[in-house]
Amino acid sequence: MEFSDFGTKLSSHSGILQLMDDIAKPLPGNVKSRPLGGGNPARVKEVEEAYRREMESLLEDGERFEDFIAHYDSPHGRVSFINTVASFFRRKYGWNITGDNVAVTNGSQMAMFYLFNLFSGMTGGVRKTLLFPLMPEYIGYADQGIENDTFVSLPSKCEYYEDRTFKYLLDVDAVGKYLDSHPEVGAIAVTRPTNPSGNVLTDSEINALSALARSHSIPLIVDNAYGLPFPDIIFADNAEPVWNEDIVLSMSLSKIGLPSIRTGIIIARPEIIKAVGNMNAIIALATGSFGPVLAERMISDGELVQLAENVVQPFYKGKAVKIEGYIRKYFEGTDYYLHRIEGSIFCWIYLPSLKVSALEFYEILMKDGVITVPSEYFFFGSEDQKKGLPYPHPHYDKCLRLNYSGDDELVREGIEIISRRYREYS
Ligand SMILES: Cc1ncc(COP(=O)(O)O)c(C=O)c1O
Repeated sequence: MEFSDFGTKLSSHSGILQLMDDIAKPLPGNVKSRPLGGGNPARVKEVEEAYRREMESLLEDGERFEDFIAHYDSPHGRVSFINTVASFFRRKYGWNITGDNVAVTNGSQMAMFYLFNLFSGMTGGVRKTLLFPLMPEYIGYADQGIENDTFVSLPSKCEYYEDRTFKYLLDVDAVGKYLDSHPEVGAIAVTRPTNPSGNVLTDSEINALSALARSHSIPLIVDNAYGLPFPDIIFADNAEPVWNEDIVLSMSLSKIGLPSIRTGIIIARPEIIKAVGNMNAIIALATGSFGPVLAERMISDGELVQLAENVVQPFYKGKAVKIEGYIRKYFEGTDYYLHRIEGSIFCWIYLPSLKVSALEFYEILMKDGVITVPSEYFFFGSEDQKKGLPYPHPHYDKCLRLNYSGDDELVREGIEIISRRYREYS
C-alpha cells in the first residue's frame, strides 16, 4: 500500500495534529493537567443560555426541527442564512454585498484550506505561492498547502516597550518589495487578531495590505475568527471591521460558543464565493445546517453582536487581565517579554534566556502537566527552513503560546510552574 503525495503530506505529523491531540489525550498517571495549549474557547454561560433558548424555540415550532435535519443545504450554505448575513453587514457597515458575496463552510479551518489551495500551487505552468506577511502565524495553516513549498512568509518587525511588553508590526516596505519581485504570489493571508501572538493588525496596516493586494491584482485573505463584529475578542481600539472587493473575509461561529458545530462564513467577491461553494459540493456535498439555523435569527436581530460586545469581549478581557497579572507576578525578576494582549484567546510570551528550545521546554512542562504550544510551529514558509536552518526571527524557538480561556486557578498554577522552570532553564 502506498499513499499519494497528497495523502502523505496531509497525513504526516503536524503541529496542529499535536495540538488537537494534546487537547483530547489524558496525561499519564496522576499528573494534574493545566491545559494552556489548544484553541478551545471558554464556556460562557450567557452565550450557552442564548443558544439553548434558540434551540428550545426551534423544537417547539411545528416541524422546523425535522425540516432542517432532513434536508441538505445548498453547497454555498443555507440560503436564508446567507441572505441574512449579507443584509446584516449591508445594514450595519454599509458593505455593498448580497447573498452572492457569502458562503458557508464546515468551519473556517476548512475555508482556509479551500482558499489557500485556490490561490497557490501550479497555475497555468507557474507555481503560485501564498504570502504570510507577518510571521509568527497560525499553526493551523502551516500544513494546509496541497503542494510542497507553496507557502512563503516574511518575519514581523517587533517593537519593545518599557513595561516588558512588545508588539509585532507589519514591514509594509518589505511586503511591497517582495510582491514586486515575486509575481508568482497568488494571495496574501493574515489572521486578525493574530493567533498566536494576540496582535491586532491596525486599520492602517490592513489598509496598506489591501492596497498592495489591489495593486498586484491578488486577494488579501483576512482570517477574522476572533474578530469583529463577532466574537469581538478584540481589546485594541484601533481596529474596525473591514471588507472590500480585494479582501476575502473569513469568519467563524466557533469562538462565540459553537466550536463543535463547525460553521465558517466567507465574504468575498462572487467569483470566489462560487468557487468555494463548488468546492463544498465536491468535498462535502453541502454544509452543516445546524450553526446557520441556530445563529440566523440572532444575527438578523443583532442579538449575536450584542452578546459579543457585552458578554464575550468583557469575559475574555477579564481573563487577559488575569493572566497578565499572573505573568507579571511570577516572572518578576526574570528576562521575559509579553506580547501586548490586543485580542484572541492567547498570550504569547518571549523567553530570551531560555537555554533549551521552546519545543524542548514544552516537553519539560508537559511532564509537570502544563500544556502549552511551542513557538517553532508558528514560524513557517522561509527559504532558510527549506535548507534545514531555523526560521530567521529571534523569537523562533523562544516563545510559548498560552491559552488563557480556561479555569483561572489552573491558569495561575500553569504560569507559576512555567516561571519556575524558566528560572531553572535560563
Ligand atoms: C486563527 C484561526 N483561524 C481559524 C480557526 C479555525 O476555526 P474553526 O474551523 O473552528 O472555525 C482557528 C481555530 O482555533 C483559529 O485560531
